[in-house]
Amino acid sequence: MFTQRGVSIIGTGSYVPEQVITNQDLEKMVDTSDQWIITRTGIKERRRAAAHEATSDLCYQAAVKALDSAGVAPEELDLIIVATVTPDMLFPSTACLLQEKLGAQKAAAFDLEAACTGFIYGLAVGSQFIATGMYEKVLVVGAEVLSSIVDWEDRNTCVLFGDGAGACVLGPAKPGEGILSLYLGADGSGGHLLYLPAGGSRKPVARETVENKEHYIKMCGNEVFKFAVRVMGEASMKALEQAGLSKEDIDFLVPHQANIRIVDAAIKRLELPREQVYINLDKYGNMSGASIPVALDEAVNEGKISSGDTVLLVGFGAGLTWGAAVIRWTA
Ligand code: UT7
Repeated sequence: MFTQRGVSIIGTGSYVPEQVITNQDLEKMVDTSDQWIITRTGIKERRRAAAHEATSDLCYQAAVKALDSAGVAPEELDLIIVATVTPDMLFPSTACLLQEKLGAQKAAAFDLEAACTGFIYGLAVGSQFIATGMYEKVLVVGAEVLSSIVDWEDRNTCVLFGDGAGACVLGPAKPGEGILSLYLGADGSGGHLLYLPAGGSRKPVARETVENKEHYIKMCGNEVFKFAVRVMGEASMKALEQAGLSKEDIDFLVPHQANIRIVDAAIKRLELPREQVYINLDKYGNMSGASIPVALDEAVNEGKISSGDTVLLVGFGAGLTWGAAVIRWTA
């Protein structure tokens, strides 16, 4: 059962909800300005899920497209991993809800939580099952309805986040193709820099936690910013090193889409021209675990990534967590 073999992304898909919240809309809600948001973050608008849409609904839309592009039927899936910090509910897992929606009866299913790095963690976990020969087809989804945990009266956070979902199907690959390396990291000592205080076992939901707005995201923005700038470069270099490559070998970069200034710092460290980097944070803001897979899917659909390209994915997030993947593109 346990053989070591290559792992490839054989299909991608993404979905963003219809409702657009522009910077001008936010100007009416909090003390902010279009100019502040654009110059400090690069974000112009973001998507917001409709009242009837939960994370599993966004997952479903992205997953159907990923399965279609991979030519894989839901019944063929062996495993579904959903990376999210905004599950439909604490349990059952969003992955189980998605399994039922897809009719993927054979698939095992679980959620994975590594915040904005969740999709890269999901790729790492999902690919192990294929590398060992235990499974043939794994679906990895990064999906968020962050609008449900954002304080729409807090200008420090509400301008940054958006809703969306991105998915990929993993399958076996020839040696030297597909995922060449994966690098993951975590530092729990920075957990207090980006967190959601209430709703877990530490502080169960109570009238008091709601009154204190402890069911919303709390973030120390500039500390996260400094960490992000450092770790995006470091994680990229580690993943490249593990693949036996250097920064000159990168054909295309798909970074986590949190802030254009963070992306620019990574571009500078990696000495890449902007044309070799996918940026969609202007349209969607930071979709946490969904950012990288949505950007990857859009880049593929726009023909920016071709077979044989060396693609670098890199992200960071709450935890603190970080991770990078180097992929020799085959799909
Ligand atoms: O995926 C991981 C999730 N998190 C992140 O990636 C966040 C990383 N951090 C960032 O992107 C940036 O730190 C922010 C965009 C959050 C903030 O930018 P900054 O350049 O670090 O600004 P700052 O936090 O130092 O705040 C500067 C000023 C403050 O005013 P005072 O104290 O100097 O008077 C803020 O109150 O900007 C103020 N401010 C705003 N003003 C207008 C904060 N948010 C806003 C706003 N509109 N929306």
